[in-house]
Formats: sequence, C-alpha cells, structure tokens
Amino acid sequence: MAASTNPFLIKGYLDKNHFCDRGEETARLIKAMENGRNVTLSSIRRMGKTGLIYHVFSQLKKKNDCVYVDIMPTADLTDFTRTFGKAILNSLENPYQKSVKQLLGIFKRFTPTLSIDPATGQPSFEISVTTTKESDATLEDIFNYLRSRKKKVIIAIDEFQQILNYPEKRTEALLRSYIQRLNNVEFIFSGSQQHLLSQMFTNASRPFFQSTELHFLDRISKDAYRKFIIYHFASNQKKIKEQEINTLLEWTQLHTHYVQSLCNKLYTQPEKELTHEVLNRCMQDILLENETYYYSYQRLLTDQQWNLLKAIAQEEFVSKINQREFLNRYKLSASTVQRSIKALEEREMVIYEKDAYRIYDVFLGRWLAAKF
Ligand SMILES: Nc1ncnc2c1ncn2[C@@H]1O[C@H](COP(=O)(O)OP(=O)(O)OP(=O)(O)O)[C@@H](O)[C@H]1O
Ligand SMILES: [Mg+2]
Repeated sequence: MAASTNPFLIKGYLDKNHFCDRGEETARLIKAMENGRNVTLSSIRRMGKTGLIYHVFSQLKKKNDCVYVDIMPTADLTDFTRTFGKAILNSLENPYQKSVKQLLGIFKRFTPTLSIDPATGQPSFEISVTTTKESDATLEDIFNYLRSRKKKVIIAIDEFQQILNYPEKRTEALLRSYIQRLNNVEFIFSGSQQHLLSQMFTNASRPFFQSTELHFLDRISKDAYRKFIIYHFASNQKKIKEQEINTLLEWTQLHTHYVQSLCNKLYTQPEKELTHEVLNRCMQDILLENETYYYSYQRLLTDQQWNLLKAIAQEEFVSKINQREFLNRYKLSASTVQRSIKALEEREMVIYEKDAYRIYDVFLGRWLAAKF
C-alpha cells in the first residue's frame, strides 16, 4: 500500500496492519473452526463482524479453503442457492483451470455458466436456477460437492438472519439438515439482528438449536484503539495528543465504523498537528455532509417519534424511557413513548444496548444533540 493511502479503512479489509486489535476474538474463532465447532457471530451493526471474518480468513486460508458469502441481497431460497453456489464455486474452483464441462462432471443436475465480470474483466462462474425444483436439486448438488472436498472448507454466511424473510418456511430445517451431515466443513453464521439470530440458535424448538458456539462482538478496547490511532498518525508524520484521541473515541462512542470514519477524515486534513480545533472542524464537517440524510429521516417519522429521538440524543443514554423526570424534561407523553420507542427500534434508529437506549447511528445522535 502506498504511503499516501489513508490507513483508516472505511470499507473492506486490507491486512492485519490496518486492522485494530481483535486478538482474542480472532483466536477464539480460529480455535472453534479448528475444532469442528460452528459459530454464530453477532454484534450491533457496524461493529466489525465482516472485517473480523476477513481477518480470520486471512489466517485460516493457509491451511483451509475459505468461502465468504453475504446473503443480504437474497429474497428467497432460489436466490440463496444461486448466491451460495456461486460463492462456493468461485472460491473453490478456478475458472482458468476448470472448464464448465469438467464441472458438469461434479454437478449432476445443474449447469454452471462462465461469464466475464464487466468490472474486472475476470471470468467467473454463474449458476442459473429459476424453478423451485431446479433450486432444490442444485442445493443438494452443492452440498454433495462440499462433502466430496478433501481439504477442510470454512464458510461464512453473513447476514444469516435473512433466511427468515424467505417465503419458504422450510429453509431453516433444510439448511440445518444439510449442514449437520458435513464433517469437513465449518460454518460461521453472522448477523446484526441479534434477537432473530439468538432465537434461531437458542430456542429449543428451532432446527439450529444449540448447533453453534455463540460469539458476541463487543467494542474494541479504548487502549487498543488509542494505540492503533497513534501508530497510524505517527507513521505518517502526523501528531495527535492523547486528549484529542480521548475526545475522538468518546464522540464516536468507540463504535468501530464511526471511529474509522472520523480518523479517516482527520487523516486527510492538511495540518501536521491535529489539534483540538482541527478535530472539532472534522466533526462538524461530518455532520454537515450528512445533514440532508438526517433531515429526510424527520420526514419518515411521526412528530412523537422525532421528538423522542431528539430527547434520547440530548441525553445520549436513557436507561428508563418511562421515568417521569425524562418525560417532563422533554414534554413527552407516557402513552405515546411506548409506541414510539418500539417504532424507532424497529427502524434501527434507536438501540437498547447495555441497559440503555441510544441513537443507533452515532453521528446522527451527535447531529440531533447539536442541532435541537
Ligand atoms: N478491527 C478493526 N480495525 C479497523 N477497522 C475496522 C475493524 N473492524 C471493522 N473495521 C472497519 O469498520 C467498519 C465496519 O466494520 P464491518 O463492516 O466489518 O462491520 P459489521 O459489523 O459487519 O457491520 P454491518 O452490521 O453493517 O454488516 C468497516 O469500515 C471496517 O473496515
Ligand atoms: Mg457486515
């Protein structure tokens, strides 16, 4: 990576140098994979699940085949089959080495096709299934193919709770039955809708009950993040004092995506010394850049919801939403607050975390608190 490139990534994964800490989480995941235990990896949004999966893969791929598949864009089981099959084929087979004809020998009932990715110019396998019958047969073929692999395969299915939105209610049981018959494949099921995931894996009447080890991804520690930030600024001849880093970490509530975004912005400032003033300017700039989005949220919410959102933002954390003092301070009525908070949680505008409500999007919270 060129020295001029911003070391604070705001998407994707590069290498361990640009990845802060997660030592324990990485070791625990690797241990589970090496010992034949599937894992459910959950956290609130934008805390670093996908990054962690890539980080773990960068270490596991020396000895194992690794497949990452994000099923967020899938709407039904046929979609799943297409997306899942495509990810597996393209990760485990090389389109330069295997012809479609050879693959037909492996897959009995479906035809992968080769197409050229317009963005990269690289060939990649595609799976075209349309009917339920085709899809079922293809899925069976894919799992048979996985079973036939000699080398251990590690598959991460990101946004796994998406299968609950499929019209095919049999999906959960079907996948579970295929998965439990595989001995050479380990799975990481990852997602941010914790209540859905935890119901799937901890409810005794559900197919995936207790079939995985549950890993919850919390915040990176303040110390580790501080060191990481100092290291990257210092190696690029920029100065930042401990006090400014503390302000930065507090303002972003140590929420990975927001820490990264602010650092990324701070890094692009022309000043060599990142003073309190420079930091403040960056924070204001971020809020200003997003303002159009924030105003559009107002139009999506009822007045009561918007007022409650503002009140929570002012407080930063609210542990008892029904407390008289809180209601009086913001002129909220107890009867509507219950309904509003539910709606705000459903829209992922507010989250209940560690015994308190707060605004899910940290920057939105800062904007609301400053603006109103
Ligand atoms: N340990 C880390 N060090 C530095 N940056 C990180 C780390 N983990 C994640 N990031 C960055 O933080 C951002 C959010 O991470 P990521 O996308 O992995 O979160 P997520 O939990 O998968 O989010 P979502 O729930 O939205 O899918 C990304 O820009 C990623 O590059
Ligand atoms: Mg993710």
